[in-house]
Parts: sequence; structure tokens; C-alpha cells
Amino acid sequence: MTDIIKPFPPSEGNDMATVPAVLITGASSGIGATYADRFARRGHDLVLVARDKARLETLAARLRAECQVAVDVLQADLTKPSDLAAVEARLRDDTRIGILINNAGAAQSGGILQQTADSIETLIALNTTAPTRLAAAVAPRFAQSGSGAIVNISSVVGLAPEFGMSIYGATKVFGQFLSQGLSQELSPRGVYVQAVLPAGTRTEIWERAGIDASGMSDLMDVGELVDAALVGFDNREPVTIPPLHDARRWEALESARMVLLSEIQQAHAAERYLSAA
Ligand SMILES: NC(=O)c1ccc[n+]([C@@H]2O[C@H](COP(=O)([O-])OP(=O)(O)OC[C@H]3O[C@@H](n4cnc5c(N)ncnc54)[C@H](OP(=O)(O)O)[C@@H]3O)[C@@H](O)[C@H]2O)c1
Repeated sequence: MTDIIKPFPPSEGNDMATVPAVLITGASSGIGATYADRFARRGHDLVLVARDKARLETLAARLRAECQVAVDVLQADLTKPSDLAAVEARLRDDTRIGILINNAGAAQSGGILQQTADSIETLIALNTTAPTRLAAAVAPRFAQSGSGAIVNISSVVGLAPEFGMSIYGATKVFGQFLSQGLSQELSPRGVYVQAVLPAGTRTEIWERAGIDASGMSDLMDVGELVDAALVGFDNREPVTIPPLHDARRWEALESARMVLLSEIQQAHAAERYLSAA
């Protein structure tokens, strides 16, 4: 990759006027709060979004003091249409924002037999509708300017129907597909789109979902996860899987997918489906 298609060089020696602001959803804890810390240390101004305003204000005050960046707090419940609309408007109108981190999300304990229609609807609203609408709100401005980045925090659970988290996993593979599709659409317009697929990471997500993570000794530290994701970001990877040690495994999966696609022949059903009649 050349520097020409790297619009966000690290802050060292950077002209501060060219460093875009970053809007991070779910910035009050875990992965989002860690992204906020890391981007502030790189010299980016921030817009922090979540429901817990007090926590966002505490983080904002620390980052303003430690990193001398401007940090705005935007309280929003992304499952509420009016709050979501306010964040969309901010992304559309605030031309300082050049990076969107679609991170806010939740998990759910139990399978489809244990979940209620309301809890499923809320999960889908938070994990799929909100990031899609936020990406759609900002994409035209980024495409117009020929720059910008959209990061979607997905999950390796989206690769694994075997894990028994069907609806959560479905929302996460949605984010991965969305990222890969938007990358096809927007990278020719100078916009970088990244899907990040963490595996189990030590954050509050487990407790919030009512899942006992105390026996999970191999969870990744959240700082290690975000630092690794940022290496992928700096290298302009379309899909970053920090816990995948052999990158060739992902490349092989993608190659197999392309072979499968090349063998889909639209006009006729495969021989094994031809009826005797
Ligand atoms: N931790 C893992 O093992 C893991 C693995 C793979 C993927 N992920 C993904 O990583 C992302 C971040 O999760 P995390 O692990 O950092 O969990 P976390 O510590 O629980 O953080 C979730 C964040 O989302 C915000 N949020 C939740 N509901 C919201 C709502 N209705 N409106 C606005 N913000 C809301 C929370 O803030 P408020 O409560 O203040 O609103 C919080 O800032 C999620 O998308 C998750 O699916 C996590």
C-alpha cells in the first residue's frame, strides 16, 4: 500500500490540522473506551457515543487532560430512533469527523428457545441496524471527499454457527459482510472500510449478557485486542482477525469462496437436484 491511500498516518510528525476526528460508538467501556484512548494518544479529537453519560464524561476529561485533544460526549441509546437520528446527523454534518468506529454492541445468553422477541429485536437494532445506518449516514460525505474510514467491530462468532450464539453470531456476520461489501463499493472512492473480528476479549460484555466468564482463562486483554486491530487499520486490511495466528487460513477461506462463486451457474439447477419427472 502506498502513502497516497493511507489518509490517516500516525500522529508522529503529522500536521494536526489534517488529523480527522473519530466518532466511536460504545465508547463508555471495553473495546470502544480503549479505541478512544488509543486514538487520543495519536492526536485525534473524539466524539464519544454511548448511553452512560457520566462514564463518557469521566473518560473525556481524562483524555483531554492527558492527550490535549478535544473530546465531545454524545449521549445516545442507539436502539432508540430519535437518538440514532441525532448521531446520524452528527456524522453527516460534522466535517471534522473522518473516522467512524461502529463498536457499540451487546451479546445475549441462551439460544433462540430462551430469548424473547423483544430482546432479539433490541439486539438486532443495536448490532445491525445502528451500525448500518451510521455507515450510510457518513458514507456519502466520505465518498465526496475521497477519504475517511469506517470500522465495524464484528466477531469470530460470525464464523461459527457451532458456538450456539445464533442470533448474536448472525448480527456479527452481518457486520462482516457489510464491511466487505462497503469496502468493494467505497474503496474506489478513497474510503477505507475495516471489519475487526475479535474472539473472546476481557470486557463487560459477558457480565452484561449474563454469561459467567470467570472460567474463561484465555480471554484476550482489551488493550492487546485494540492495538492489534490498529495494526490492521494502519495496514489498511479489509478484515482484521487479531487472534488468528496464521493469516493464510483466512486467505484460504476467501480463495475457496471465490472458487465456489465461480462455479455457481445461474441458469440451471445442479444435476443432483434434477427430478426424475
Ligand atoms: N468482548 C468480546 O469478547 C467481544 C468479542 C467479539 C466482538 N465483540 C464486540 O465488541 C463490541 C464492544 O463490546 P465490548 O466487548 O467492549 O463490550 P462492553 O464493554 O459491554 O461495551 C459495550 C459498549 O456498547 C455500549 N452500548 C450498549 N448498548 C448500547 C445502546 N443501546 N446504545 C448505545 N451504546 C450502547 C455500552 O455503553 P452504555 O452501556 O454506556 O450504553 C458500551 O460502551 C461489541 O460490538 C461486541 O459485539 C466483543
